[in-house]
Order: sequence, then C-alpha cells, then structure tokens
Amino acid sequence: MSIYNDRVVKQFTVITIIWGIVGMLVGLFIALQLAWPAFNFDIPWLTYSRLRPLHTNAVIFAFGGNALLGTSFYVAQRTCGVRLYSDRLATLVFWGYQAVIVGAVLTLPFGYTQSKEYAELIWPLDVLLTVVWVMYAIVYFGTLATRKEKHIYVANWFYSAFIITIAVLHIVNNLAIPVNWHLSYPIYSGAVDALTQWWYGHNAVGFFLTAGFLGMMYYFVPKQANRPVYSYRLSIVHFWALVSTYMWAGPHHLHYTALPDWAQSLGMVFSLVLLAPSWGGMINGIMTLSGAWHKLRTDPIIKMMVVALSFYGMSTFEGPMMSIKTVNALSHYTDWTIGHVHSGALGWVALMTMASIYTLVPRLWGREKMYSVGLINTHFWIATLGIVLYIASMWMAGVMQGLMWREVDTNGSLVYSHVESIEATYPYYVIRATGGLMFLIGACIQAYNVMMTIKGKVKGA
Ligand code: HEM
Ligand code: HEM
Repeated sequence: MSIYNDRVVKQFTVITIIWGIVGMLVGLFIALQLAWPAFNFDIPWLTYSRLRPLHTNAVIFAFGGNALLGTSFYVAQRTCGVRLYSDRLATLVFWGYQAVIVGAVLTLPFGYTQSKEYAELIWPLDVLLTVVWVMYAIVYFGTLATRKEKHIYVANWFYSAFIITIAVLHIVNNLAIPVNWHLSYPIYSGAVDALTQWWYGHNAVGFFLTAGFLGMMYYFVPKQANRPVYSYRLSIVHFWALVSTYMWAGPHHLHYTALPDWAQSLGMVFSLVLLAPSWGGMINGIMTLSGAWHKLRTDPIIKMMVVALSFYGMSTFEGPMMSIKTVNALSHYTDWTIGHVHSGALGWVALMTMASIYTLVPRLWGREKMYSVGLINTHFWIATLGIVLYIASMWMAGVMQGLMWREVDTNGSLVYSHVESIEATYPYYVIRATGGLMFLIGACIQAYNVMMTIKGKVKGA
C-alpha cells in the first residue's frame, strides 16, 4: 500500500471536473439569457437572478474549492513525506464539502439566500461549512505538523494562508442572528455591513482565487517543467508581501459610496501596491521555465500553465488600474468588471486547475501519461480562444457602456437612454456566450481525456 492517501485526492479530482462542467453550463445558460431573455422560459427558479449566484458558487466554491482541497492534500503529503494526518477526517471533509454544495444547489434556485455576494448561503449551510473547514484545517495542519521533511515547501505556505484566512473571513462576514431555519439578519448594518462584505469579497478573491491557486502553481509548474522554482527567495518575499497587502484593498469595491472617502483612497493605494507582489509571483512562475523553454513547443500542459500565469499577470495589472477612482467611475456597473473577473477566473483559476489536473491524473492512477496529448492541445487552443472572445467582448461592451452613460449634449442632458446602451451591448453578449461555449467544450474534452486515462487507455496504442 502507498504511504499516501491518494483515494481522497482522486475523489476530489473527479468531482472538480464534474462541478466545473456543471458550473460553467450554468454560466453559459445565464450568458444566453442576457443575449436572449426568453431563455428563462418564464420559470421562476430558472430566472437570471437565481441562477447567477448558483453559477458563482458552483464555479468558485465547487469547482475551485474542490480543486484546492484535493491538490492541497496531494501536495502536503508529497512535500512532507507523510500520509494525511487522518484518513477518516479527510473522507468526512470530502463528503461534508459536497453536502454544502448540494445544499447550495437545493436552496439558491428556490430563492433562499442571504443576499451577500459570494456569501449567499443561508445560515445552516454556513454553520455546516464552518464545521467542514475546521476538519479540513485539522487534517492539513496535522499533516504539516507530523512531516518528515524539516522544511515546509512554499506551496504549503500559500495553502495555509488560504485555509486560515478563509476561516476568518467566512466567520466574520457571516455573523448573523437567525430568525427561522432559512432567514437571518446580519449583526452589521449600513456602511459597516458593506465594508465587512467587501473586505470579505475582495479577500475571497485574494485568498481563495489567488493564494490557494498560487500554492497549486508553486507545486505543479516546477513538477511539470521538471525544474526547481526560479527563485525561492522571491517566493518568500512574494508570499509575505501578497498576504499583508491584500487585506487592505477591499474598499476599492465601494468607490463613490457612503464609505468615508479616506477609506476608499486607502483601498485604492493598497490595490496599486498589490501589483508588485502579484507580478513577483507571476515572474517566479514563468521564469521557472528558464532552461526549459523548448517544452513550450512540445508540452501543451506547460503551454496552459504559462498562459494561466500570463492571465494572472494581466488581471492583476488590470485590477489595480480599475481601483483608481477615476477609472472606476467609468468601469463600475459595466461589463468591464465582468471581463476583468473572467480574465482572472477563466484565464488564471480555471486554466491553472485544468493544467494541474493533467499533471496529476497520470500520477494518481499510475499511468505513464494522459490518454491523448493531442486532445490536451485541442483543449488548450479552444479554451484560450474562448477566453479571448469572452474578455475582449466584455471589455469593449464595458467601455462602450461607461462612455454612453456619461455622454451629455450641450444642454447637459444625457444623450443615450439606458435601454439604448443595452441594445448596443447585444452583439457583445452573443460573442461572450460563444466564448463561454468554447471554454465549456474544452472542459468536456478534458473530462473525456481523464476518463480514458483512468480506464488505462492510450490513444493510438
Ligand atoms: C463557460 C464559462 C463561463 C461562462 C459562460 C460564464 C458566464 C458568466 C456570466 C454570464 C456571468 C454574469 C455576468 C453579469 O452579471 O453581467 C458570470 C458572472 C461571474 N462568473 Fe462566470 N462564466 C464562466 C466561467 C466562470 C468561472 C470558471 C469562474 C470562476 C472560477 C467564474 C466566475 C464568475 C464570477 C465571480 C462572476 C460574478 C462577477 C461579478 O459579480 O462581477 N465564471 N459568469
Ligand atoms: C492586484 C490584483 C487585483 C486588484 C487590485 C483587483 C481590483 C479589482 C477592482 C478595482 C474591481 C472592480 C470593483 C468594482 O468596480 O466594483 C475588481 C472586481 C473583481 N475582481 Fe479583481 N482585482 C485583482 C485581481 C483579481 C483576480 C486575480 C481575480 C480572479 C481570479 C479577481 C476577481 C474579481 C472579481 C470576482 C471582481 C468582481 C467583484 C464583484 O463586484 O462581484 N480580481 N477587482
């Protein structure tokens, strides 16, 4: 028997692929609704407002979350040279986490929500998630504590920051007084509630969608490239600079609101500073390939990783720019934000996950390589083109909307009505849905390739 618990990692890997397809399918469906509203079929639980949070919860917490939990268990065992601290708890973490997700699927479409973005789940599910998260922390940190290696590899630093910070964010932002089994009132009100929510929201980006995936990057990029991390010193500087800066940037979500002006400016300044550690991480990842650049020609997994890192660099350049108050005055409320989100979400989070799955699957199931390298290449191209269509259309739509809304004539009257800006956005919505469809097809190709690899098939053999 292997010294490692790979069973639970396998479970997480398979469920990541399944939830990814479900979440993106819902994303595609709401993208179609924005282009053709008739797609809600006049059924309440298929309306946009109910499916949108289902999409965000499914892709972030079900797809991204399962990927993070699974890979963190894999990485911790491999870099510490020991089995998971407790097999039984690890199994409970897996099933408990799926129970939370199923809970989300059974509540959000029916309108049971807390109405806080990315924290929509009703209080009983919040409590369940807290219990699961504590078990997860025990397994993860227990494994680190019992390690045979003296050194704690940098990927574990990032996963640790992810686990600790998400616990704090989740508990603080969800403090509420229950009224009945599905309704509760937050203990905060007004601007304090908004600030707490966006302190949570931005750090969910920083620690869920960024720090966790950087942990993944720091293990799987060197593994796939068969090279050591470019600079270990940079990775440590990167880590401390990133975690200490992210915490303060939340107010950039609340520009021109009732939040005190100084707090908005503080959020803006910290967001601008955030560019430096973010790019430090990107450079460290990409430069890990130095000496192995030729692999970019032959290995589609490496290509996917490099494109993921490039999108990480792009979205962490764009974010600080959007946090500048005068730029935000144009971008806020427009589809520019949606373009930014998906350059991070599809380009960075999803591609890094998919590439890591390709590295992981043959190792987990004891196969020499994936069933078909050609299919990985097809996946890479269709996904990359899909992202470009998605984000380029949203950028154009966003800037156009922002400019139309502020256009005034010589009398100071608005030149365009709101509905005219929606009409003008229509072609971009169709292009976005096409890009989303391509990305989803890529995910299905990966699912097929993984299934065949698990079955032990090799294409052409
Ligand atoms: C097939 C792929 C996808 C499609 C077609 C898609 C589509 C959409 C659509 C139509 C929206 C609503 C936009 C709006 O309200 O105007 C949305 C929102 C969102 N999606 Fe996706 N999505 C996809 C994949 C993903 C992935 C993989 C992630 C995360 C890892 C993600 C994260 C989000 C987030 C965070 C929002 C909310 C953005 C905001 O409130 O500003 N999406 N998506
Ligand atoms: C240096 C890094 C980053 C900074 C400073 C930053 C900054 C910003 C700003 C200013 C907004 C618009 C806020 C608004 O007008 O409401 C925003 C929205 C958003 N960003 Fe970023 N961003 C960064 C990186 C990322 C990355 C890497 C991702 C995803 C993986 C991401 C995901 C999001 C999401 C989901 C939203 C929409 C939140 C919402 O309104 O629902 N960001 N970001």
